[in-house]
Amino acid sequence: MASAWLKSAVFYEIYPNSFMDSNGDGYGDFKGITSKLEYIKSLGCNAIWLNPHYDSPFKDGGYDVRDYFKVSSRFGSEEDFDDFIKSAHAKGIKVILDLVPGHTSEENPDFIKSASSVPNDMYDRYIWTNDPWSSPEGFKIINGRYDRKGSYLVNFFSTQPALNYGFNRVDHPEWQSSCKSEAALKTREWLKSVMRFWLDRGADGFRVDMADSLVKNDGEQSEKPATSEIWRDIRSMLDNEYPDAVIVSEWSNPQAIRAGFHADFMLNHHGNPHNLLVRYEENGENRSYFDPDGKGDAAAFAKGFTEWHDAIKNDGYLGLISCNHDTHRLAPHFGQDQLKIIYATIFTLPGVPFLYYGDEIGMKYMKDIPSVECGFNRTGSRTPMQWNMTANAGFSSAEKTFLPTETDKVVNVASQEKDKKSLLNCMKSLFAFRREHKEFVSTEMEFLHAKGAEPLVYKRGGLTVVVNPLKVKQTAPVKLAPKTKAIFSIGKEAKAVKDGIAVPPLSFTVFE
Ligand code: GLC
Ligand code: CA
Repeated sequence: MASAWLKSAVFYEIYPNSFMDSNGDGYGDFKGITSKLEYIKSLGCNAIWLNPHYDSPFKDGGYDVRDYFKVSSRFGSEEDFDDFIKSAHAKGIKVILDLVPGHTSEENPDFIKSASSVPNDMYDRYIWTNDPWSSPEGFKIINGRYDRKGSYLVNFFSTQPALNYGFNRVDHPEWQSSCKSEAALKTREWLKSVMRFWLDRGADGFRVDMADSLVKNDGEQSEKPATSEIWRDIRSMLDNEYPDAVIVSEWSNPQAIRAGFHADFMLNHHGNPHNLLVRYEENGENRSYFDPDGKGDAAAFAKGFTEWHDAIKNDGYLGLISCNHDTHRLAPHFGQDQLKIIYATIFTLPGVPFLYYGDEIGMKYMKDIPSVECGFNRTGSRTPMQWNMTANAGFSSAEKTFLPTETDKVVNVASQEKDKKSLLNCMKSLFAFRREHKEFVSTEMEFLHAKGAEPLVYKRGGLTVVVNPLKVKQTAPVKLAPKTKAIFSIGKEAKAVKDGIAVPPLSFTVFE
């Protein structure tokens, strides 16, 4: 099957600014990443998702692309990029890039051209109203910045004008074009040209930013028929021309798979299964299943997860995240021993693991640092990778790095490589174990016990996973079949007893 590699992929997400600085300017770069490929491989990751690497004024961390056909000089030269891709492939590591299809930077020459007072061939590439004085309701609109007679729609920040993929429901024909209009189709063709450009250059696919945002007035997130039609068209282009390429959506809804994505992230949205498992908050307090105060609810998690899983089962994969560049890291809220069982649980659910750089050593969300490049509260999750105990945690030789680095005796790669019991070494053995058992890359999944903060017990084919999130021992009311034996554990091993399974505090056990 085309793109079959995705099934056994384990991704490592890299925020290029923050991974490794090779030339001492305080920013991470391609050469830095290339120098750490062996490390990524040693973790058991065989794929990378690289956050935006394009030429950008960085008014939203690179999600504001000025030139889609050029790398950011901040990260090195075009050759450095090609060398990174080539070196990754030589080590058996796939690389997917970040595709930003919905909006460009306000500094993109196409946008600047579209903002001219004189009509030209870019007039329909973005979404402009025909009146500079009005701000139509229901849209994010900017006016009074350019001489074109109109105001324009933005998708996210005011620096990110929305590209024109048209409207599904046209309410104002004076300025809204249909998603079937020539202008809308041209934008789609332009997007395909961007994708072909990077696939021809060796990329193995894309993580697609705000994938559900293309067509306006397109209904609920779980429907979006016109946006879905665009992606199905793009998927068939890929199937024909680049059968090994994959697209992974930032959509977070089963509709993404129906729209043709190979995989879709289960992001941290309030009340969804990921959130209920580790990040659910009520009145500012963590009330998720893994919180050790025991107020979380495994049943709500299992119900939501099962529904989602059943909705996509054999048509695509869930992207399972430890965190990402938009989400608060789990540390320091959770300590290293908790993180071990949290990651083990997330990454043994059916789906494709996406480990966010630094999570493997328990890097902390850095509180109270000033926002940089409009990271705002996301900035604390984007700080430089902590390699060792030298200056700037080994990330850079610069006097000042673009975000503060933390030097921590425990939270760095060098120390954890030496410590057999470290989180880092636990992640390595988890991924190695996962790799050896095809049950984990199957779609087979059944919850045997999910209730309150009691041990969570689920089956993956012939394997049974038992997790205790609490710091006290518990018993799971599940009878294991005779001759079942534990084949992997974190913390003390769970054991079959008369009335079920005795599950030690903070433990994760897999039975066969
Ligand atoms: C996505 C990205 C986020 C960015 C936004 C706008 O949510 O993950 O970092 O700010 O889209 O492009
Ligand atoms: Ca650099």
